[in-house]
Amino acid sequence: MIDKKMEKELNKQINEELFSAYLYFAMAADFESKNWQGMSNWMKIQAQEEMGHGLKLYNWINERGGKAVFEAIAKPGETWDSALDVFKAAYNHEQHITSCFYDLMRTAREVGDIATEIFLQWFITEQVEEEANASDIVEEIMKVQNSPNGMIMLDKELGSRALTAPIQTTGA
Ligand code: FEO
Repeated sequence: MIDKKMEKELNKQINEELFSAYLYFAMAADFESKNWQGMSNWMKIQAQEEMGHGLKLYNWINERGGKAVFEAIAKPGETWDSALDVFKAAYNHEQHITSCFYDLMRTAREVGDIATEIFLQWFITEQVEEEANASDIVEEIMKVQNSPNGMIMLDKELGSRALTAPIQTTGA
């Protein structure tokens, strides 16, 4: 049976991941309203990945004899001033998520939940990639933001992103 504190903290993380999906869907909608279809695509894929992360946590809590609990999801922003602002916000958000996983790891250690500690390692590795993806795009935009052609090319490139794995509905 999962430790109650661990269960509560993992449930909080489900909310963080679903908020992340909300945030990225909102960013996708803002891009779409400004006709940046490629960047919108990138954000929609990211939002789906976040739902997958939430489900991964849900499955783990369930597998360990706990229960996933769903709290209200906060309202994300609606509009951003520029593509650069959007991706900078995404990068900052991913840094926040990384710190959440470090806290979860500390809790797993504190309660002696070695299985959850090992489970969390996947997310810690994933966060390295999540941060790098967002910060790479920030850097790309900084290079091309004053060139309409450069921004169009980047939009096209981000439009090619596809969901790499289907959302897993069972197991951890
Ligand atoms: Fe699920 Fe982008 O962290």
